[in-house]
Amino acid sequence: MDRILEPEIMDDPEQAAAYARANFEKENQTFVALFREYFSDLTEGHILDLGCGPADIPIRLARALPRCRVTGVDASPPMICLAREAVQAAGLADRITLRCERIQQVTLPEPAEAAVSNSLLHHLPNPLQFWYKLKQVVKPGGCVLVMDLFRPESPEAAQAIVDRYAAGESAILRRDFYNSLRAAFTEDEVAAQLAELNLTRLLVDVIDDRHWVVRGRI
Ligand SMILES: C[S@@+](CC[C@H](N)C(=O)[O-])C[C@H]1O[C@@H](n2cnc3c(N)ncnc32)[C@H](O)[C@@H]1O
Repeated sequence: MDRILEPEIMDDPEQAAAYARANFEKENQTFVALFREYFSDLTEGHILDLGCGPADIPIRLARALPRCRVTGVDASPPMICLAREAVQAAGLADRITLRCERIQQVTLPEPAEAAVSNSLLHHLPNPLQFWYKLKQVVKPGGCVLVMDLFRPESPEAAQAIVDRYAAGESAILRRDFYNSLRAAFTEDEVAAQLAELNLTRLLVDVIDDRHWVVRGRI
C-alpha cells in the first residue's frame, strides 16, 4: 500500500484532547523500559523528546531517571497546553521543559545527551528533516531511541489493527490511528532514510505487529 500523508501537526483541540485521554500506558511504558535497557549507563543529563504530545513519555522518563531533565517539543498549541497541565499535575515542572515549536526549527544551547521520539515520524512529509535534526541536537555518542508505527500491506490490514487495538477508543482516535498507519513508513524505508543521512550506527528493528524501533548511539 502506498503512503498517504496525514496532517503534520495535531492542532485541532478535540483531536489533541482525544489523544491525551487515550490509554497509551503499555506502549509508553515499553518505550521507557527500552530506553533504560539500551542505555542503562545514562542516568543524568538532558533528554530531548521530539513530538512529545501530551508529555506522557517525558513524565515517565523524568520519573524513571530522577537526575535527568527532559525537554519536550511539539508544534501543536493545544497539545502543549495539555502537556503543561500534565507536567504540573505530576509535580515535574522543575525538570521538564515544554516548547511549542516545529522540530525542524529546534536549536539547543548545547547538544543533548539523548533524544527520543515516539509516533512522530509518520506525521512528517519529509522524514529526512527529522533524522537531520537528530544529528544536530544530540551530542556525538549520545543516545537515540525512536519508535513509530509501520505501514501495513493493505487498507484492510490497517483497519484490522485499529479494530484489534483501539476497539474501545473514540471515533476521532480510531480515525487518526487508521490514518497514521497509512502514513507510516516501512522498516525498509526507515533503513533507507538512515543510510541516506549516514546514520549507520543506528539500528532499526520491528518489535511487534505494528511498531519499529530505531536505537543506538549517534
Ligand atoms: C501521534 S502524536 C505522538 C505524541 C507523543 N510522542 C506520544 O507518544 O504520545 C504526534 C505529535 O507530533 C506532533 N508533531 C507533528 N509534526 C511535528 C513537527 N514538525 N514538529 C513538532 N511536533 C510535531 C503532533 O502535533 C503530535 O502532538
